Amino acid sequence: MENTFVASPLSFQLTEEQLAVQAAARDFARTELLPGVIERDEHQVFPKEQIRKMGELGFMGMMVSEQYGGGGMDTVSYVLAMEEISKIDASASVCMSVNNSLVCWGLENFGTEAQKQKYLTRLATGEIIGAFCLSEPEAGSDATSQRTTAVDMGDHYLLNGTKNWITNGSSASVYLVVAQTYPEKGHKGINALIVERGMPGFEIGKKENKLGIRGSDTHSLMFTDVKVPKENRIGEDGFGFKFAMKTLDGGRIGIASQALGIASGAYELALAYAKERKAFGKPISEHQAIQFKLADMATQIEAARLLCLKAAYLKDQHADYARAAAMAKLYASQVAMDVTVEAVQVHGGYGYVKEYHVERLMRDAKITQIYEGTSEIQKIVIARDLLR
Ligand code: CAA
Repeated sequence: MENTFVASPLSFQLTEEQLAVQAAARDFARTELLPGVIERDEHQVFPKEQIRKMGELGFMGMMVSEQYGGGGMDTVSYVLAMEEISKIDASASVCMSVNNSLVCWGLENFGTEAQKQKYLTRLATGEIIGAFCLSEPEAGSDATSQRTTAVDMGDHYLLNGTKNWITNGSSASVYLVVAQTYPEKGHKGINALIVERGMPGFEIGKKENKLGIRGSDTHSLMFTDVKVPKENRIGEDGFGFKFAMKTLDGGRIGIASQALGIASGAYELALAYAKERKAFGKPISEHQAIQFKLADMATQIEAARLLCLKAAYLKDQHADYARAAAMAKLYASQVAMDVTVEAVQVHGGYGYVKEYHVERLMRDAKITQIYEGTSEIQKIVIARDLLR
């Protein structure tokens, strides 16, 4: 569909419902996620209890329709909530993003009614959480080169292989696993299967010790002769690669919003610090060197926010949003890097220690340029769309 978006300020007049979602997410992040966030980062502790509460508040299945237990909300509300949660705890927000954008959205849009009843209803309420398993040791950006195999055995698939860098790796109950069934058919021979935790032959491997988002549990997963019933295949035979690509288009709006939140969280801390901290006889916010930084940060954040909202708006309008989502992710993740580095600089020596939060946000920012497609992949997606 033609992109009919007009960049009028009226397009972003948030509704009362959207503002209420934003306020609820902000309140939750400050009261429930802020306490302990430094310790969870340091000791790599998954925010289990906090995620459970996020489920109760409806943040784990925001866009799922109410008939499957979701919030029935729009993507704009999701962007607003992701920004607020990510300002405080990007480890919690990546769990939220994967569950909402990849797992729930993928199942609601491409799953069978039986799959939705069995899995989506529980994923949407946060009773259980899900994981999306595409990346492999030798298939990251080059997602068609899947080595994991799903051999058709008649009434089931026999799944063998290894997945890497899987978010929610040890905390999920349901895993959407992409695997090759007909290697000779290339991307048309790939399937996506629903794998349950505890299926014989499914093992959770090493936990990654990461630079950032250290509270999220990122694992490798091993599948050895796992029998996955045929009814657990998502979509038609051979639909797995397109399933992954279509799902990632929406996932990129989630990660763009995460990057936006990391940037705006760091900016808000820098702004407050600049007003308090005195140097050379006055608050540092009165020095032009700091004012220039704050002005640049705020401008970049505003532009990133507009790109995120535009992608969300297009998705809500059922318009083509793949390019807009890639642009939002490309730009917002660069802004997250730039702004968090500047926020540390504004804080001076205090910015380099954990208590002031900005060093964590700077470390968390980097992953937004890597997962759900590196910045280079976003440029490929954008350029291909421009040249189509
Ligand atoms: N929607 C629908 N179909 C799509 C599509 C999309 N967005 N993108 C591609 N396709 C289709 C193409 O039309 C083509 O189908 P046909 O042959 O029928 O026309 C098919 O898929 C193959 O497409 P390409 O030839 O473009 O494939 P490619 O090998 O050149 O790769 C790519 C395209 C965009 C680079 C893709 O491989 C890609 O997105 N790679 C990055 C993967 C990624 O983002 N991984 C993240 C892992 S998940 C994660 O990080 C989650 C987490 O834990 C936080």
